[in-house]
Amino acid sequence: MSVHIAAKKGEIAPIVLMPGDPLRAKFIADNFLEDAKLVSQTRNIFFYTGTYKGKQVTVGASGMGVPSIGIYSYELYTEYNVDTIIRIGTCGAYTTELEVYDILNVEYSFSESTYAKFAWGIEGEAIKHQGNAFDKINEVAQKKSLLVKNVNIHSSDIFYRKDKEIPAIAQQNNCPAVEMESFALYANAQFLGKSAATILTVSDVIPTGESISADQREKALKTMMSLALDAVIAL
Ligand code: HPA
Repeated sequence: MSVHIAAKKGEIAPIVLMPGDPLRAKFIADNFLEDAKLVSQTRNIFFYTGTYKGKQVTVGASGMGVPSIGIYSYELYTEYNVDTIIRIGTCGAYTTELEVYDILNVEYSFSESTYAKFAWGIEGEAIKHQGNAFDKINEVAQKKSLLVKNVNIHSSDIFYRKDKEIPAIAQQNNCPAVEMESFALYANAQFLGKSAATILTVSDVIPTGESISADQREKALKTMMSLALDAVIAL
């Protein structure tokens, strides 16, 4: 048991897939895993441990934003001996060069957040993916003939804002899309010497207002989920 996760030691696998939404963790457990067991439901943040193609894996939600994923990923790495966390989320595209359903593998996460500096003394606005999960994701995508774009992402604390312009940090650092969690995940992994990657599906194109409709969302996310699960097998 840790502060925010009720699983017993040994009930969490060394590799964890981390969507933002607890119901998406349940969806993965229901649709992809064998012998999935609910191992924590503190705050309705569901964690399931089961097997995929014979390999043990845990799926559990991060909640939304840097503070939330900062807590869950830290407890997984430090209390449950987790080695690798792969975030699987959605993002908003800043540019029409990306389209809804595009799948992104995040190399550098750029943020205005002070999380890394004040938690770990990590200076600077960019943190890289950690360990070999990023490369495995690319290898597996290639084998599946799935186009996955390697990008930098803007990891923002802000969803709603006054100004419509693309934030300066994204413009200056070639970040074509925005999400809200990868920066804290990468910071924790860097500080703790663990592995972390982030796969994102473009759910919204901000300049046009286009978004994946509710009935298309499940199918779109399934592609990303099976990519992440096959990367788990390859790790
Ligand atoms: N902003 C931040 N995070 C997101 C968005 C967005 O527009 N869409 C999906 N995740």
